Amino acid sequence: MTSSEVPFSQAAENNKGPILQVLQQHCQAPGTLLEIGAGTGQHAAWLSAQLPHLQWQPSDVPDNLPAIRHWLSQTPNPARPPLALDVTGEWPAGPFDYLFTANTFHIMAQPLVARCIAEGCLRLNEGGRFMVYGPFNYDGQFTSDSNRQFNGWLKAADPQRGIRDKEWIEQEFARHGRQCLADHEMPANNRVLVFG
Ligand SMILES: C[S@@+](CC[C@H](N)C(=O)[O-])C[C@H]1O[C@@H](n2cnc3c(N)ncnc32)[C@H](O)[C@@H]1O
Repeated sequence: MTSSEVPFSQAAENNKGPILQVLQQHCQAPGTLLEIGAGTGQHAAWLSAQLPHLQWQPSDVPDNLPAIRHWLSQTPNPARPPLALDVTGEWPAGPFDYLFTANTFHIMAQPLVARCIAEGCLRLNEGGRFMVYGPFNYDGQFTSDSNRQFNGWLKAADPQRGIRDKEWIEQEFARHGRQCLADHEMPANNRVLVFG
């Protein structure tokens, strides 16, 4: 992969520090962490290096794996080689102590988000934590004008995309016996929801 082909996310650079603070709080015990929709791999490369007590397993759809491999190769880090995981397909057996996903619930169609929650919860150890970063709505309301505009942009690209309601996400987790343990405010009108 040449340098001009390497995907880069400025947002991932901006939010990795605030996300680390939340993970440090909720991932204190050593364990395995499955990252779903790892994207460029920037989070996996940096966060896994800051949290070396975790066995960090990045995953994404097959097309994204070369970029993730590239990012992981650029810095010393303990992340495992990326795994091909389309949430609609076969999932790794697990179990995992932690699940983490960033900026995926507004990209996946709603039934895929439900599947992601269901399959993830099945593979989450008792006492495990499922952490979801992204923008969310509350009581059907956008939390900012910029999130409203972002949602319009998402829908124009694909009507199946869109910012999800926190209450709906909570309901889906509740169907699998998990409740929302924490809801952290993040910069740029994002949140981290922690389920367990
Ligand atoms: C906006 S990107 C976020 C990437 C990264 N987590 C971040 O925060 O920078 C959305 C990610 O969701 C992944 N994704 C979309 N549909 C998926 C699916 N069906 N299964 C697994 N990952 C999926 C995409 O491949 C992409 O990496």
